[in-house]
Amino acid sequence: MNIIHTNITVGASSPFTVLHMSDTHLCRADDRNDQRKTELAERRQKAFPESEECLLAGIKEAKTLDCPVFYTGDLLDFVSFANVDAAKNFTDNCDVFMAAGNHEFSLYVGEAFEDEEYRNRSLPLVQSAFNNNIRFATREINGILFIAVDNSYYLFDQQQLEQLQKELKKNMPTVLLMHTPLHSEGLYNHMMHELHNECAYLMNVPDEKTALYSDHRRIQQTADKTTKEAYELIVGSKNIKAIITGHLHFDYEDTSLPCLPQYVTACTTLRVIRFD
Ligand SMILES: [Fe+2]
Repeated sequence: MNIIHTNITVGASSPFTVLHMSDTHLCRADDRNDQRKTELAERRQKAFPESEECLLAGIKEAKTLDCPVFYTGDLLDFVSFANVDAAKNFTDNCDVFMAAGNHEFSLYVGEAFEDEEYRNRSLPLVQSAFNNNIRFATREINGILFIAVDNSYYLFDQQQLEQLQKELKKNMPTVLLMHTPLHSEGLYNHMMHELHNECAYLMNVPDEKTALYSDHRRIQQTADKTTKEAYELIVGSKNIKAIITGHLHFDYEDTSLPCLPQYVTACTTLRVIRFD
């Protein structure tokens, strides 16, 4: 495990620490699910061989630091009873504040186009493992408002947008937790021109850029009107001080959005964040 220490100045009434984790991708299955799920688990464990070790290390670190875990999605690689049990055990053992990722609702990984209808097939079961609403939730610590939003299908929906508008009217220093980072010049260029990905896997990539994606990725990642409005609200807000994200599976500190740093944390990293 890699441990990173990050300091974020947001105007807290007194300093405090949280442990940021993301994208552990647990790959458990047992005979409560079907054989296809067991085979999926065996296949996917090869892609995430350190997932169990990472989860244990996170639990240990959170207990040592006696702090909450801020989790930005993809704790589960796919929906299974064994994975949901593992998530429940995690939230029973640690104070976990969670924003869902796309894999939280993935039934067999890559089998289907993932949209609201697909998500809703497994949302009640997955939600049952967590102590906050994994689609939108808020939490205040020492005068700082934390908002966890599921934007994992590269979208905000109308309800999330209205909830965010309402929360920002509290006029508090605010930090967002989201699975998918926002488009910024720095992250886009890093993904496309330094890492040579086929697409940037960011929310609200401009249409002229997604036009160059494959059909599948363009349809998957093009922002709709509500998402574009949410993006403008976020980058234009004087209250939002930082965004904590995952999804990209590497560590990155993006400073290319004016006054709005984005922190990306990898699967195998524990990011200890001190807010002051
Ligand atoms: Fe992930």
